[in-house]
Amino acid sequence: MTVTVTELTPTTGVEVTGLSGSRLVDRRVAAECLRTLARRGVVIYREANVNDNQLVAFSRLLGDVVPIPNGADKAHPEIQQITRDPAKSKLAAYREATFFWHIDGTSSEVPDKATLLTAKQVSDNGGGDTEFANTYAAYEALSDKAKAELENVRVVHSFTASQLLVYPNPSPKERAAWDRNPAREHPVIWTHQDGRKSLMIGATAGEVTGRSPEEGRALLDQLLDWSTQPQFVVRHKWRPGDLVIWDNTIMLHRALPYSETSARLMHRTSLAGEEAVA
Ligand code: OGA
Ligand code: MN
Repeated sequence: MTVTVTELTPTTGVEVTGLSGSRLVDRRVAAECLRTLARRGVVIYREANVNDNQLVAFSRLLGDVVPIPNGADKAHPEIQQITRDPAKSKLAAYREATFFWHIDGTSSEVPDKATLLTAKQVSDNGGGDTEFANTYAAYEALSDKAKAELENVRVVHSFTASQLLVYPNPSPKERAAWDRNPAREHPVIWTHQDGRKSLMIGATAGEVTGRSPEEGRALLDQLLDWSTQPQFVVRHKWRPGDLVIWDNTIMLHRALPYSETSARLMHRTSLAGEEAVA
């Protein structure tokens, strides 16, 4: 089968067809994938149809795979099931927060480098596309004045901030459970080791240091609206077997809402970060 490679927008995303199963689990394919991620933020392998062993093997070719604490699948402790079905995942109740634009692992000093998601089952009752927004492109497009104004701005990220979007009125017990995940402050502009700059915003961004909650919220909302304009966004409509990989340091992403009874089931791995936010 011939391999095709298509760029999706002027700045973002590449779609690859014709690479599946064991043909994907290859050093050269992985090296090309890493180069493409750095350039385009998200790589989509259409109908890659990788099984769990192949998903883990390909992830290992890309970087250090993060083990999932209390993972459901003992044979593959690196794989997390992404579903709203509580019978399949203890974390199902938290998935609604993925409907809001976010970056994974922002409460760590070193956020995950990349996330891999493959569709075992797609939604059978609507919703469930995934959208990606490129924060390199969004930063680049800001005016010089706006860039200068953001230079020393710092933002507090927390799991609690993202859950409050879904459940604005938690009981004290719920709130205390969320707050067990420590918050972390980051600069709003991430200057990467290669000098490129991206924006650290999204659902986990709760407060701007030194500003009132209202002022902080207004700035964060404005930056999120800016960054998720159509010219910075790629939308993926899933087919069974698709494998999507994104550079989690620069790609805001969200699932379009799908119901609790949806058959949608994704298998996911995460690659450990290599760079602290600075
Ligand atoms: C995630 C995530 C989006 C989706 O797993 O981190 O944001 O479409 N998933 O399921
Ligand atoms: Mn995510």
